[in-house]
Amino acid sequence: MHWHILGAGAIGCLWADFLTQAGQKVSLILRDQASLAQWPAGGRLEITEAEQPHHIHCQLETPDAEVPIRHLLVATKAYDTLSAVEAIQPRLHDDTEIVLLQNGMGQQEQLLERLGNVRLWAATTTAGAWLETRNKLHCVSRGDTHIGPLTDNTSALPSGWDRLDIPLHPGSDIQTHLWRKLAINCAINPLTALFDCRNGALLEDSGRIELMRNACREVEHVATAAGIELFPEPLEVRAAAVARATGENFSSMLQDIRHGRRSEIEQITGYLCQQADRLNIEVPVNHSLLQGIRALSPTGQR
Ligand SMILES: NC(=O)c1ccc[n+]([C@@H]2O[C@H](COP(=O)([O-])OP(=O)(O)OC[C@H]3O[C@@H](n4cnc5c(N)ncnc54)[C@H](OP(=O)(O)O)[C@@H]3O)[C@@H](O)[C@H]2O)c1
Repeated sequence: MHWHILGAGAIGCLWADFLTQAGQKVSLILRDQASLAQWPAGGRLEITEAEQPHHIHCQLETPDAEVPIRHLLVATKAYDTLSAVEAIQPRLHDDTEIVLLQNGMGQQEQLLERLGNVRLWAATTTAGAWLETRNKLHCVSRGDTHIGPLTDNTSALPSGWDRLDIPLHPGSDIQTHLWRKLAINCAINPLTALFDCRNGALLEDSGRIELMRNACREVEHVATAAGIELFPEPLEVRAAAVARATGENFSSMLQDIRHGRRSEIEQITGYLCQQADRLNIEVPVNHSLLQGIRALSPTGQR
């Protein structure tokens, strides 16, 4: 099997390692020649996991390469999905398998609309990884990954994924898992970005706790109306447990805002607010969180 990975960031490189260890051939599709030039010749990717270093070699290419793509993993940020896939669309075939491995929602439907007849899966992961440089990856945790089909013409898992040595949970209810991740992200990420605090600090102040509780109740209301069962316990209880368990972490949204980068707020709280509008549900707390993060975001990036 030959997997192409579109989005050679932290998660794309992590999956390059997982797929390579599972005996698959891996090519990283880099944005352009300038990105390609930042990689060492031979596509050497160094990985450190549990303080143990190892390395793999990936083929490197740009979107305009001519090799057909039969198996594609998309691991860009959610907002880059459409433009990134459009750039390689001429290389896709009717039977190409595509997996979207990202946070956020909305991009999955947009891609389906754009591509029409494809074999598409969505996946969501609690794995954690970061890049020290372009080709130096630190795997913090393999986490748990849920994956499920978004189209009828797929099997439970994409080709070769049964050999991945990671906690992988295939299932037909991927929408529920995408919503669960969205709900936790809505509850924690915008608040940490607005208060410029670690996840755990959300639980140290009665005003923040109250705001998180109100945001959670709105999210639950929308999810229920959309036919999604989130967690057995109330979202505010689950979100508080996650904030406690990841107390020392700075959320990715906070890090994006601190570094002046575009965040995934539109695909997280923005998606939630769109669904609320569609279902005629008032979500004032989430609307104000959305506006608050937009105000902190680089201008013109939505
Ligand atoms: N990192 C984690 O621990 C983690 C954990 C769980 C979920 N996630 C989710 O996984 C997704 C990816 O996150 P990440 O941390 O891996 O992000 P990232 O490090 O920013 O990687 C995204 C990559 O996509 C590339 N890209 C964007 N547009 C492209 C295009 N048109 N053609 C080719 N490459 C393109 C970017 O290239 P440039 O550098 O050239 O812009 C970048 O290398 C996000 O939805 C995130 O929320 C991340």
